[in-house]
Amino acid sequence: MTGSKTGLNPAAVLSMVGQGYYSERTAGARNVINTATEMVRDALATTPATDRIRLADYGAADGGTSRTMWSIVLTELRNNGDNRQVEMIYTDLASNDFSTLFRMMQGFDGDPADAYQKNLDGVFVHGCGTGFHDQLMADNSLNLGFSATAMHYVSSKPCELTSHVHMVGATLDEQSAFRQQAAQDLERILLARAAELVPGGRFICFNFGIDDDGRFLGNTGGVHMFNTFDKHWRGLRDKGRISAEEYTRATFTQHYRTMDEFLAPFNDPQSAVSQAGLVLKSSKSVLTPCPYRAAYDASLGAAEGGMSARDFAKTLIPTMRSWSETVFTTALDQRPKDEAMAIVDEFYQAYEDEVAANPDGHAMDYVHLVIDVEKSA
Ligand SMILES: C[S@@+](CC[C@H](N)C(=O)[O-])C[C@H]1O[C@@H](n2cnc3c(N)ncnc32)[C@H](O)[C@@H]1O
Repeated sequence: MTGSKTGLNPAAVLSMVGQGYYSERTAGARNVINTATEMVRDALATTPATDRIRLADYGAADGGTSRTMWSIVLTELRNNGDNRQVEMIYTDLASNDFSTLFRMMQGFDGDPADAYQKNLDGVFVHGCGTGFHDQLMADNSLNLGFSATAMHYVSSKPCELTSHVHMVGATLDEQSAFRQQAAQDLERILLARAAELVPGGRFICFNFGIDDDGRFLGNTGGVHMFNTFDKHWRGLRDKGRISAEEYTRATFTQHYRTMDEFLAPFNDPQSAVSQAGLVLKSSKSVLTPCPYRAAYDASLGAAEGGMSARDFAKTLIPTMRSWSETVFTTALDQRPKDEAMAIVDEFYQAYEDEVAANPDGHAMDYVHLVIDVEKSA
């Protein structure tokens, strides 16, 4: 392989594309979080009447997808006469673009109507750059924790995948290694929240997973998104554009749990999680349709004429790219940055061309498994 090291940060492998790219192109994730508004508001209303309220948004990226939800919840709190001071802790990895997050919250970026830190009195926004597998705040101090679309990331890859980019298409042995890692991680996540929550506090988690019908992100009956990623990445290998090692290194550090996997710690009264006082209040799966597909379909029925398939592809691929790009750039981190980016551009271009040639069945519907957990008082 030619070229020098690029300086691409290996820690960035899990991060979203920064500078607002993530939330600007991720309308679907925002829609998912907006559907959680009522659940978060109702749960918060039942947490104990502590002197101050502490909230956390785990794996928040640039904060852009959840801030409408938080703005609504906190504005309602004030409108209902609850003037307790509120501390909001946004957590993500150290490599996250916290700068964009802070600018948004202070009203310098994005829609100022959602800049609740600025718009409401007594609301203090903090950032925490330590991963959510660890305890992130003092014992018994958190009223309500929330996380969306983040805890499917495992703390480390148990192995590289040899024949696919994602565990959903991996060999049975490789899937089993990811399942085991995810089970250990879930216990760590829940034990950390058990320590942080006040008795009576709540943790609401909207997480990617596999529903009872076997559906998951980008695989809800149409063209299978992860197989398409794999096909185009493999294609670059087969034509000698990337090496066999680079093909394998593009392994998503993710595990999509089933509902049984999610609920296992709660179903066993002897588990460390149950013993730590966490109790499941409810669970459900939610399918959120791809907004880019919906807009395309709606345009086809419009009197003034529809979007072209190319225009649709140009909206769909960036939303996929916003969260997946770092997997592919990191796989190429032994190359100069511009060379790596040219290959990654080619990869997403191939996906775009496929959609533009025949858009049938292409979409990125979201499938979330939701758990609402309480720390027993
Ligand atoms: C797909 S984004 C979701 C962002 C936002 N919560 C949403 O729903 O739109 C996943 C986020 O999880 C973060 N993440 C992954 N592993 C993490 C970890 N161990 N601790 C904290 N954040 C993590 C990533 O950096 C990324 O910002």
